[in-house]
Amino acid sequence: MNNKNQGKNQLEIIKFFLPLLFSRKNGHCFRYCIAGFFVISTIALNVLIPVVAKHLVNTITNKNAVYAFAVIFIFPSYGLIWTLARIVSQCRQVLMFRVFQRCTRLLGLRLFEHLNALSMNYHKNSRTGAITNSIDRAQEAIPTVFWALFFVVIPTIVEILVAAIILWSLYGFFYGAMVVAILVTFSCFTFFATQKAVKIQRKSNETNKTVGSYIVDRLLNYETLQCLVINKSYEINRCDDVLKNREDAMTHQSIVMNLIGIGQAIIIGTGITIITFVAAKGVFLGHELNISDYVLISAYLIQFADPLNMFGFIFKEMRQGLTTLENVMEILNETPEIIDKPEAKAFIPRKGDVAFEHVSFAYEGGNKILNDLSFTIPAGETVALVGQTGCGKSTISRLLFRFYDSTEGDIKIDGQNIKDCTLQSLRSSISVVPQEAVLFNGTIYFNVTYSVPNISQDEVDKVIKMVHLDKFIASLPDGYNTVVGERGLKLSGGEKQRIAIARALLKSPRLFIFDEATSALDTKTEQAIQTNLIEISSNITTLLIAHRLSTVTYVDKIIVLDEKANIVESGKHQELLANKGYYAQMWEYQSQNHS
Ligand SMILES: Nc1ncnc2c1ncn2[C@@H]1O[C@H](COP(=O)(O)OP(=O)(O)O)[C@@H](O)[C@H]1O
Ligand SMILES: [Mg+2]
Repeated sequence: MNNKNQGKNQLEIIKFFLPLLFSRKNGHCFRYCIAGFFVISTIALNVLIPVVAKHLVNTITNKNAVYAFAVIFIFPSYGLIWTLARIVSQCRQVLMFRVFQRCTRLLGLRLFEHLNALSMNYHKNSRTGAITNSIDRAQEAIPTVFWALFFVVIPTIVEILVAAIILWSLYGFFYGAMVVAILVTFSCFTFFATQKAVKIQRKSNETNKTVGSYIVDRLLNYETLQCLVINKSYEINRCDDVLKNREDAMTHQSIVMNLIGIGQAIIIGTGITIITFVAAKGVFLGHELNISDYVLISAYLIQFADPLNMFGFIFKEMRQGLTTLENVMEILNETPEIIDKPEAKAFIPRKGDVAFEHVSFAYEGGNKILNDLSFTIPAGETVALVGQTGCGKSTISRLLFRFYDSTEGDIKIDGQNIKDCTLQSLRSSISVVPQEAVLFNGTIYFNVTYSVPNISQDEVDKVIKMVHLDKFIASLPDGYNTVVGERGLKLSGGEKQRIAIARALLKSPRLFIFDEATSALDTKTEQAIQTNLIEISSNITTLLIAHRLSTVTYVDKIIVLDEKANIVESGKHQELLANKGYYAQMWEYQSQNHS
């Protein structure tokens, strides 16, 4: 990316986020008008202060008749105007605080919504810690950038331009032109210098995200980390490496930013020196300016030197903010792969028959997992998919739920191509119990009733009994209100699975998908739950993915997949055994090994 593009980028970033400020949800037209009035008043008052100072000096040095009047009126007015300017600026702050916070809120909400809409593929490839880090910092960046832009940068530039006009009209072209020259040189220098610093800023930003994702990843995997890491100092050193990278990048960034600050100070300083020199010369020669004019000129210079000098800091903050916002802009520009087609229709659940028609699928950049796969599940029947681990069984369930779309071929439910249905209508008709059940960090009750929050306690009790969790929950001191910990880690694998089954049952779907849903249970509990599941799913189309063949003997049809997910045989348990094929071999093997 060349510099020109980066320059454009900064404006593009501001343009991208500006609608937040003027969003209808931020509807504070009145606030904007008052804030605008305050900004203009502050500019006017700031420009007025040196003029008052000039008159002050004039009346003092000329000790004339109006001296007494000046003492009473002009002297206090200087302080008054100064105070007023500060008060107005504070009021502006109070007024706009909520507006900027509302922008932050709108951005947070939009990101949350967008991240939820993004496809499985995006989430599998991204680092949660890095995303949360960017989101956190972007939300802080919004008020910083908007505040700096609208309350510091733009008003200061306007103030300086107004001062230049006043100086020009009072003392001629030179003074006005000099002030504008300082401003232009300063702005050009700052613009080009910060362009050069963009790369460094991005790097420090990247190291910051890495720190975020590193720490979050290690905390999420606390248990693994404790089990695998024998040498604690090894992990600590790795963490320190990540932190050191950030330290280096931040330091580098700070050096560059401060060098820019020095450059800015030299430009302002040189300008001030030249102007005051010429003004002092004018006073010394006596015919052009008097001492009060000198006071006015130097008051303007001092007044604007500070904010201009502060621009160094403000620009640094702004650049940092914009770089973070750039990250968030990338996230927001990420388009979900699985979306509703423009002409998508709501899925109309009927009896629930499922058909895979010549379906092929490969994960992004990976080998083909499914190759021309065709099978059907007649409405209301239970079909089991068996095959060795890694052959693609879970992939089949993900395609049905449209976490991914098939690369070739169609999947139809009740004759409707699932690619033509809206995601929400489709997903609300399907209950999946995934292979690795993960829970929210809330109570058991919250987790079970997540998709049906208004369900009655009786119904919850009923499904909890079906999954044999009633005794377990009764034994807990807090019962249903027991908090399950992050991702449900305070529960055993089997307990989590049973909660996942319970919540899938409560959703009352047209299609059940159980992906090795009982694999973490002991044989006795598994069989007990199985009996319930057979009953529940007797009228509902069910896809049962299983590794343990003893759990699928009852189903209407067993589809046996080889390691490439090709169907090698299918039929009822007894038929397959009689075939003495692949299934019979697996059965034999598993019976001998009691798996
Ligand atoms: N998100 C993914 N990206 C790339 N490859 C994947 C992804 N998920 C699974 N795979 C690969 O796809 C294959 C099938 O996985 P899966 O359907 O989970 O197998 P099964 O459920 O039969 O054990 C495996 O080789 C696995 O490594
Ligand atoms: Mg699997």
